[in-house]
Amino acid sequence: MNGPTHHDSHAGDGTSYRPGRLTRTAWGKDGAGGILVERQEALDFMLENVRNSNLRKHILAVEAVMRGLGGRLGEDEEKWGLAGLLHDIDYETTKDSPDRHSLVGAEMLEAKGLAPEIVEAVRAHNEHHGLPRLTLMAKALHAADPLTGLIVAAALISPAKKLSAIDAKFVLNRFGEKAFAKGARREPMSAAKAELGLELDELIGLGLEAMQGISGDLGL
Ligand SMILES: [Fe+2]
Repeated sequence: MNGPTHHDSHAGDGTSYRPGRLTRTAWGKDGAGGILVERQEALDFMLENVRNSNLRKHILAVEAVMRGLGGRLGEDEEKWGLAGLLHDIDYETTKDSPDRHSLVGAEMLEAKGLAPEIVEAVRAHNEHHGLPRLTLMAKALHAADPLTGLIVAAALISPAKKLSAIDAKFVLNRFGEKAFAKGARREPMSAAKAELGLELDELIGLGLEAMQGISGDLGL
C-alpha cells in the first residue's frame, strides 16, 4: 500500500490462510544472504505487527498475487510470496509518520535477516521515496499492490459481492474507468507490460485467479 486509504474496502482477519505447500522451507541459506524463513514464521511475524483485519486481507491478497506472478515468470514463487506477505509489515508502525512507510519495514526485514532482494523490493514499493525498482520482484510487487485493490473493488460491485462472480474482462473494463477505485493507481499496473512483459489483461487475469484461490480468507 502506498497510502492509508487503500485498505478501507477490505474486511475480516484472514488468519486462517494456510496453503498446503507452504509448510516447507521458503528458501534456505542460499548464498544470497537470506536466512531460513518459513512461510508460517513470516505469517506469524506479519500477524504480530499488523492487527487491522482489512490490512491483513490486503496483505494476503498481495501474497497470493505475488506467488502467481512468480510462478508465471519462472521465478521462486515461495520467495515472491514472502515479499507480498511482508510488504506492509510496518504499515501500522508508521501510521503517525506515513512518510516512513516501507523504509521502516525494510529495516524490520533486514533485522530479521531476510534476503536482500525481498528487503529492497519492500523498501521500493512505496513510490513516495522515488527508489528504483531494480529487480523483477520489486517491479511485480509495485504492480501487485494496487491490482489487489482494483480487483477487490470490482468484486464488491458484483451483485454477489464475490470474486467468483467476476472475470478478468469485468475488471479490465473497470480499469478504464478513472473514477472507479481511484486509490488503485493504474500506472503501476500499466507498467507491467514494459517491466514484466505481461499484457494488462493477463496481469489482471492472473491476479484475479490468485485471489479467487484464497477467496475464503479474503471473505470475498
Ligand atoms: Fe500494500
